[in-house]
Amino acid sequence: MMATETAPEFVTAMATETERIGNSREVDEEKISRKKNPEEEALEAKCLPGIISAYLNYPKAAEENLKKCERSYQKLSPAHKALVTHFPMKLQRLRRCILMNSHFIYNMLQAFEPPIDLSKHMREPITGALSMEELQREEHHHDHSLKNAEIRLNNKTCEFDGGHLNHDHGSVPFSSHDWLDSSLQAHVPLVDVNKVRWVIRNIVRDWGAEGQRERDECYKPILEELDSLFPDRHKESTRPACLVPGAGLGRLALEISCLGFRSQGNEVSYYMMLCSSFILNYTQLPGEWTIYPWIHTNCNSLSDDDQLRPISIPDIHPASAGVTESFSMCRGDFVEVFNESSQAGMWDAVVTCFFIDTAHNIIEYIETISKILKDGGVLINLGPLLYHFADEQGLENEMSIELSLEDVKRVASHYGFEMEKEKTIETTYSTNPRSMMKNRYYPVFWTMRKKCAITTT
Ligand SMILES: C[S@@+](CC[C@H](N)C(=O)[O-])C[C@H]1O[C@@H](n2cnc3c(N)ncnc32)[C@H](O)[C@@H]1O
Repeated sequence: MMATETAPEFVTAMATETERIGNSREVDEEKISRKKNPEEEALEAKCLPGIISAYLNYPKAAEENLKKCERSYQKLSPAHKALVTHFPMKLQRLRRCILMNSHFIYNMLQAFEPPIDLSKHMREPITGALSMEELQREEHHHDHSLKNAEIRLNNKTCEFDGGHLNHDHGSVPFSSHDWLDSSLQAHVPLVDVNKVRWVIRNIVRDWGAEGQRERDECYKPILEELDSLFPDRHKESTRPACLVPGAGLGRLALEISCLGFRSQGNEVSYYMMLCSSFILNYTQLPGEWTIYPWIHTNCNSLSDDDQLRPISIPDIHPASAGVTESFSMCRGDFVEVFNESSQAGMWDAVVTCFFIDTAHNIIEYIETISKILKDGGVLINLGPLLYHFADEQGLENEMSIELSLEDVKRVASHYGFEMEKEKTIETTYSTNPRSMMKNRYYPVFWTMRKKCAITTT
């Protein structure tokens, strides 16, 4: 199976075996059209319900946090309460923001076509969770923007100019999505609650106007480098192919496509893929959705209004952005998917942004990148070396090879890479620009060229 296949939609799911992100298991998925073997179905049956549950659980988990704030407020003395009389109102405002975020999530889930029959695999009903219908009833009590959004919920038409994508999802019949009943959700561990919040926050980096500064700091140098390295890329027959492993929510892969490359994003996380698929395939207008990404922490806010400010997404209409025909996303673990012999020497460029430190074994990543690049192909990398499996509590038995930059460069040289450009940049990652706390990174940016075919053992 070729990872470079042109997909009729932006998002093509495919791939391989089981992988781990943080503490939770997810499964990989063969290309949707391919019949799955029973083992693969079993893996998906095991993992996908947990991810759906985590999304469905979003309003409940957020409400629990609000209740905790309320209890703390009630413990204040009358004199202290009198100093923050607006506090109950702030909690009400937060409640409304949670509803709006939930609304986005439910629409995203409705658009999702699960590769397995999820209703068979969701657990027994639990009590106390808001059902989809209850949530929609709640929404009715709120303002007109929500009512408008409800109309969209039942009118999922997505047309892609240029004829690549043209599907009418119509109204998704509720019965076909009976797994969307949040009363069926399983117990959701805190780590998965946080993953959902992390996705909502990440949307700003890739698809919010507020994320422009981070995109300029991280994606722009990569795009400029690709632009200068591949000046003759515009003829269809000679379009260079660029792979973006760890593509996150897909913006960089889309920008590379718009630059005139055959571009494919690869992403292991279903959490991310559900969201990128929704934005890429189903968005009809810029600013179609309003989310409140900063509400999940009360820390480091300059004002309540800052914390509760809305973000319109996406900042562009992806289908009108000018992508080339061969733009797709594939899901699966990078090494598992791209170590296939069919991938050897297929790519002109591999772009990694905040990715290479996600490896259990960074040497394996570099070896795989070397294998899939053509001779003379380039690896453009930007990112720190904040190894994801280093010092993780509860992951003591997970393999984690943590090399310095010096060692990484030596390993790369072993696999045939020669450094052509290297510099340090300064940036943040999914940071609230109005927070009093902003972690700054000083990641390396490099361009390495694969000099010649090498034999690896
Ligand atoms: C730190 S994020 C960077 C995302 C994006 N490149 C950006 O700059 O915003 C790393 C991404 O790599 C994904 N990832 C981690 N391990 C992966 C693997 N083995 N294969 C593919 N993607 C992976 C994660 O799910 C996550 O979305």
